[in-house]
Amino acid sequence: MTLEKAVRDVAVLVGSLRKDSFNRKIANVLANVAPTALRLEIVEIGGLPFYNEDIEHAPPDTWSNFRQRIKAADAVLFITPEYNRSIPAVLKNALDVGSRPYGQNAWDGKPGAVVSVSPGAIGGFGANHHLRQSLVFLNVPTLQQPEAYIGGVGNLLDATGNLVNDGTREFLARFLSAFNSWIGVNGRP
Ligand code: FNR
Repeated sequence: MTLEKAVRDVAVLVGSLRKDSFNRKIANVLANVAPTALRLEIVEIGGLPFYNEDIEHAPPDTWSNFRQRIKAADAVLFITPEYNRSIPAVLKNALDVGSRPYGQNAWDGKPGAVVSVSPGAIGGFGANHHLRQSLVFLNVPTLQQPEAYIGGVGNLLDATGNLVNDGTREFLARFLSAFNSWIGVNGRP
């Protein structure tokens, strides 16, 4: 009998809708440096209508499909810009949509990790930690170390989105390796 280790399905949520988003580029870099045990897939959040409890009796398909996608994932990885020292509304909306209806929180128990990305010097620290506040409530056991604050991102990528900094590539690979171990400890058997 061969004991093959299943590849873990990681749902990736990117907190920027911008076509040339640095965060999306870093998400693509992460997918490329991921260990073979992890398969990273971006789950789009830009088409989710704003959360409104009034329409829970007949939720839009976009909400239902999103909730199913998150429930099916082995883990969730958030890659977010910082907007005004917090997370972008589109990402908060995705958290809210996934958290309801009451009692059916799609995030419940999913191992998670956070990467914040900014052209600025402090690497989206405020967004990274604001996001963690919601993840505590949503019961997402979130990787603590290494923390990932990717600052000065404008100098790390070339025009086509390739990473031009070996140290950052090594760091991101190490980060995902730690995340893989984290999923092993905190994820479903
Ligand atoms: C920003 N930006 C920003 N950057 C930062 O480091 N801290 C911040 O608080 C903010 N605030 C902020 C608010 C708003 C509304 C916008 C549009 C932008 C700059 C931000 O980091 C920059 O636009 C990034 O390029 C956004 O990430 P993407 O879209 O490139 O992935």
